[in-house]
Amino acid sequence: MIGHTLDTLSRDALRLGIDIGGTSIKYGVVDIESGALAGPLAQLPTPNPATPRAMAEAMRELLAAVELWDAAPLPHTAAGIAFPAIIRHGTAHSAANISDDWIGLQVNELLGEALGRPATTINDADAAGLAEASRGAGRGQGGTVLVLTLGTGIGSALVVDGTLVPNFELGHLELGGGKAEASTSAVAREREGLDWAGYAARLQDYLAHVEFLFSPELIILGGGISVRHAEFLPLISLRTPVVPAQLHNSAGVVGAALAAA
Ligand code: BGC
Repeated sequence: MIGHTLDTLSRDALRLGIDIGGTSIKYGVVDIESGALAGPLAQLPTPNPATPRAMAEAMRELLAAVELWDAAPLPHTAAGIAFPAIIRHGTAHSAANISDDWIGLQVNELLGEALGRPATTINDADAAGLAEASRGAGRGQGGTVLVLTLGTGIGSALVVDGTLVPNFELGHLELGGGKAEASTSAVAREREGLDWAGYAARLQDYLAHVEFLFSPELIILGGGISVRHAEFLPLISLRTPVVPAQLHNSAGVVGAALAAA
């Protein structure tokens, strides 16, 4: 247990949060009153190919694990799912880094059925952004907070005075003749073997463009690479403060659970 004992937890406040990514599915139980994990942050590999059927099977597998935990949520409570696509009313409308089979599918229904409980699905960066803006690096910040997740792609979340504006797709901004995420995601850095200075130069161009378009009060950089912020953040120069995410790997899980609450 992280920061809690079971007697201090109200079991009613526990929700399952699931963050589906390109390589792993992270999951955990979140106390929605405190916004903290009430148990471990666990993961299993994303099925390859990540077809709807394989993903439903992964949901059944992770649920079986969670049901053995001390802090298992009550059976009827909703699960929150962070999904790497445009999600409108529970339906996937894009598939940049996942199987095209998802486009047009009702993710809430499909994965909710596998989990045996209602599911609320939102975009993965929106989930991470909600959590970071309210409980992480953006806590207490008014105005426009922009959260960018640097991973397989680039996810983005815009939160204005605590309210999420869903489905911002700023990873797909055209920059230098291509999509920003194709050149500036964390995976693009690895694929091209860029050193930190080379990566920071790309990030600088992208962030300056985004800053000009949206004039946020604060930019938060998330994704696995954000733990290495000391390597590249000092090389970034903007008028807007740019800070690393604080919730790291758990942001998507926490944000998904909060969205389901
Ligand atoms: C997708 C977004 C997603 C981001 C991060 C992008 O390619 O279009 O919906 O949030 O990757 O996973």
